[in-house]
Amino acid sequence: MSKINVALLGYGTVGKGVYRTIESHQDRLQRLLGKEVKVVAILVRNIDKHIAPDEHVLLTTNYEDILSLPELHIVIDAIVGREPGFSYLKKAIDKGCHVVTANKEMFAFHGTELQALALEKGVGLGYEATVAGGIPIIQTIRQLLSVNHFLGIEAILNGTTNFILTNMRKLGSTFAEALQVAKENGYAESDPTNDIEGYDALYKGMVLSQLIYGGKPNIKSVKRKGITHIQPNHMKIAEEADLRFKHVVTLSKSNNEIQCKVEPVLVPDSHPFYQVEGVQNSVSLATDLLGTLQLQGPGAGMFPTASAILEDIIQLENEHKAPPAAKDSVTDQDALSQWVIFG
Ligand code: NDP
Ligand code: HSE
Repeated sequence: MSKINVALLGYGTVGKGVYRTIESHQDRLQRLLGKEVKVVAILVRNIDKHIAPDEHVLLTTNYEDILSLPELHIVIDAIVGREPGFSYLKKAIDKGCHVVTANKEMFAFHGTELQALALEKGVGLGYEATVAGGIPIIQTIRQLLSVNHFLGIEAILNGTTNFILTNMRKLGSTFAEALQVAKENGYAESDPTNDIEGYDALYKGMVLSQLIYGGKPNIKSVKRKGITHIQPNHMKIAEEADLRFKHVVTLSKSNNEIQCKVEPVLVPDSHPFYQVEGVQNSVSLATDLLGTLQLQGPGAGMFPTASAILEDIIQLENEHKAPPAAKDSVTDQDALSQWVIFG
């Protein structure tokens, strides 16, 4: 059976989740793609912290080792920050590889350039994992955009902040205790400032804005606030008034200008976000034809993120498949191949 060779950039929460899911879902991937999906190389920053998961996997700190592999089909970006992720993906696209990224900071600033380059080179680019963890938000918005006009979005887009706010309210945890558990669970960024000060939610808002409105809000005019100034007594008073703190991104466009706000707000029990707890994210999409659609699901973590990345791999492999050669006769296996086999 032919192979799809994959390189993983980063072997932390997301990278390990992807590796393990490719291994555990190999049969399913082979049925869907007709090829074995194989991680052939992993890039890390500090090699002493890591052991290659398999003797056939190249573990390296040198990206050139990966680029010089003779047969490489997909590069997955699960590292942190704008650089070197942007440069690495540009090189991968230049080499003719499909690329998939979970790196929302890099994609918020360089996504348009990467998309143009991928189009020029005829390769695929997936970024479902950059926003709202396991919720298939990019795919859903793309589908809606084919007929709908977007009126606006309200969303909880950061799992760590929602987890912290929930644990402070429900369990009486301190901010520091709740953040520590979010780190241990792999939800928080390596520098959690991005989560708790609202930058991570802003980057996700930028990615959605580019997709929906074809442009980004002017960062200087975005009101961005994190959750660090919310005191335990604020939560107690809010709870007594049947209100809950939620960290919300709002996005809309009027008079040709994109408006974006990232801030903690109080929601009453009648609001759909009131019940969004723990690491869950929630996105309310308002459109002209559909009205409001609300999607909710795990917004961070190893396997929800791996799910989004694997969905991208399957989609871009299918989109870039060579058309099947004409056949004279249909085998039993061909006849069944149109159906998904459950299990
Ligand atoms: P981690 O900090 O757990 O892992 C990051 C990995 O990237 C580590 O293996 C690290 O190597 C490697 N790395 C970082 N910088 C470099 C570099 N310059 N060169 C080579 N390797 C590097 O992060 P996560 O797995 O949590 O997140 C990865 C990406 O996915 C981030 O962009 C994040 O925003 C995004 N993301 C995270 C989600 C989550 O739930 N955690 C969900 C969705 C997206 P080493 O181990 O040697 O230090
Ligand atoms: N740190 C991010 C969060 C990871 O907590 O939402 C998912 O993007």
